[in-house]
Amino acid sequence: MSERGKLIVFEGTDGSGKTTQMRLLAGYLSGMGVSVCMTHEPTESPFGALLRACMSKKIDADERAIAALFAADRIDHIQNPETGMLAMLNAGATVLCDRYYFSSYAYNGGFVPLEWVIELNRPARELLRPDLIIYLDLPAEEGMARVGRRGATERYENLERQTLIREKYFEAFERFRDEENIVVIRSERTPEDTQKKIRRAVSGLFGGVQ
Ligand code: TMP
Repeated sequence: MSERGKLIVFEGTDGSGKTTQMRLLAGYLSGMGVSVCMTHEPTESPFGALLRACMSKKIDADERAIAALFAADRIDHIQNPETGMLAMLNAGATVLCDRYYFSSYAYNGGFVPLEWVIELNRPARELLRPDLIIYLDLPAEEGMARVGRRGATERYENLERQTLIREKYFEAFERFRDEENIVVIRSERTPEDTQKKIRRAVSGLFGGVQ
């Protein structure tokens, strides 16, 4: 049986460069002979489709309903026998996941009580905890400038909300700092510079290979 893969999660406010950096890391790890799967939340499942409709403002829903849906999507994302992260990890793949439960703490915990969101996500946290969480840190103003260049804005994409969400991330990191492996990497320089720092952080998981 192959050794279980690692779970590396990317977190950050909107426009922080997670998706680009995750793709760069996937290419790098594949080149090192590591078997890599990339995934994201909200997922491609029916739960994820509903959430994307909420994010793009096609559907308006109560923040509590949204928080609960994210938690449901996440449990399916862990447990689904075909598309689930546990299945991928158990098959020996290293999984790179764009957003996980800290997104819920920061985004949804900004608008409904954080304690409730933590409780809602307890099953996910008990089922699957990341080996490493990479938080790409960018001032909210810079993130919004990048998002603005993309065109249409989503549910949480305004300066006031992004500022609150960034604060919530740090509040949650502080709270779980003894239980989770979190690295904060500043993302306002070049993508190459950010990627170099990410590779350094990740190398520890693979016996220091760089
Ligand atoms: P993105 O991954 O393309 O940045 O967009 C996903 C959006 O969904 C983003 O606004 C953050 C939001 N979100 C939550 O509010 N809670 C969650 O648990 C997750 C995974 C995402």
